[in-house]
Amino acid sequence: MRILIIGGGRFLGRAFAAEALAAGHQVTVFNRGRQSTELAGVRVVRGDREKPEDLARLAESAPEPADGGPGWDAVVDTCGYQPKIVGESARALRDKARAYLFISSLNAYPSWAGEPVRDGSPKYECGPDETEGEYGPLKAGCERAVLEHFPDRTICIDAGLILGPHETSGRLTWWLKRIARGGDVLAPGDPKLPIGPIDARDIALFGLRCIENGEYGAFPTVGPATETFGDLLEACVRETGSGARLRWAGDEFLRAHEIPEWTGLPAWSARDGAGAAVWDVRSELALEAGLRCRPLAETVRDTWAWLREVEGLEDGQGRINGHGIAPEVEAAALKDLVGEDGDLR
Ligand SMILES: NC(=O)c1ccc[n+]([C@@H]2O[C@H](COP(=O)([O-])OP(=O)(O)OC[C@H]3O[C@@H](n4cnc5c(N)ncnc54)[C@H](OP(=O)(O)O)[C@@H]3O)[C@@H](O)[C@H]2O)c1
Repeated sequence: MRILIIGGGRFLGRAFAAEALAAGHQVTVFNRGRQSTELAGVRVVRGDREKPEDLARLAESAPEPADGGPGWDAVVDTCGYQPKIVGESARALRDKARAYLFISSLNAYPSWAGEPVRDGSPKYECGPDETEGEYGPLKAGCERAVLEHFPDRTICIDAGLILGPHETSGRLTWWLKRIARGGDVLAPGDPKLPIGPIDARDIALFGLRCIENGEYGAFPTVGPATETFGDLLEACVRETGSGARLRWAGDEFLRAHEIPEWTGLPAWSARDGAGAAVWDVRSELALEAGLRCRPLAETVRDTWAWLREVEGLEDGQGRINGHGIAPEVEAAALKDLVGEDGDLR
């Protein structure tokens, strides 16, 4: 296939490019060359999706297949955040691609993360021309903007927590860096809680499968939640070889110590709060369309193999991209959690 990725130079976009190349597809990436590192073998078109002249140049650069069909089998848009801008990309490329795959988010569902999300759960009402608002409603508006130009040919991947090598968000990367430092590690909530993060590479493989098989529609896209928070952090201990000791603290304890949910100890939400149903997401449609997820341990192993070579991710307090807690905050909480004798109080 011939795939155009808007973005394509980091994390999820990069995973799409890598998986598409590995499958023998032709890949074009379109980005500004600011935060992008291109893979060998991709064709690069430099430009800004916010500039109409750059979009026109991109459209003109579409391949001309011998069968006279559209130049690209699909556009993969991993960096759309504003409906109007996404709509302009879709308009510019509507005759140049057979399908448009848009990377959206569970945040597009107002029920997430307080209530379950299933196939067909309602999305925010945001319109396709919107230019301002919050992340979740805007993502819903972006989906509508694509649908206007690719009716019946849109694939919306409403992704949950994405992990994996080249992660830029600071979630698994923070846990790995913290656990690699060893010692007692403040671990959040219930180690037996099933969680369903998804590897960026599995999203890419799923998206490419949807394109190939013409599976259109919206797919809540998460891991299977057959593994637990304990599995995730124990895999971090194993891979880093640091001998860190996980010290599990309950929701009330963490609240009392003002640990921010989701960002403070990444991926933790108290089970009786706004994030009570954060992992309660299921999509039969995604499974039917071919979503398959690797074990969490593989994601942890490969992320650590990449991360151990990466310098300079952390700020002065050891946080990554606003995620994690400072060592003194953790130490103060651990002091209240663990007695002098090393046992939990
Ligand atoms: N992380 C999660 O857990 C999570 C969960 C749900 C959904 N998501 C979604 O997953 C996606 C994250 O994907 P990502 O990390 O691969 O992408 P990203 O951070 O959104 O985008 C980065 C790529 O887009 C390019 N780009 C940015 N602005 C551009 C512009 N104006 N014109 C052209 N190119 C531009 C960047 O290159 P240059 O800067 O070089 O131009 C870079 O290659 C997002 O759509 C996010 O909403 C993430």
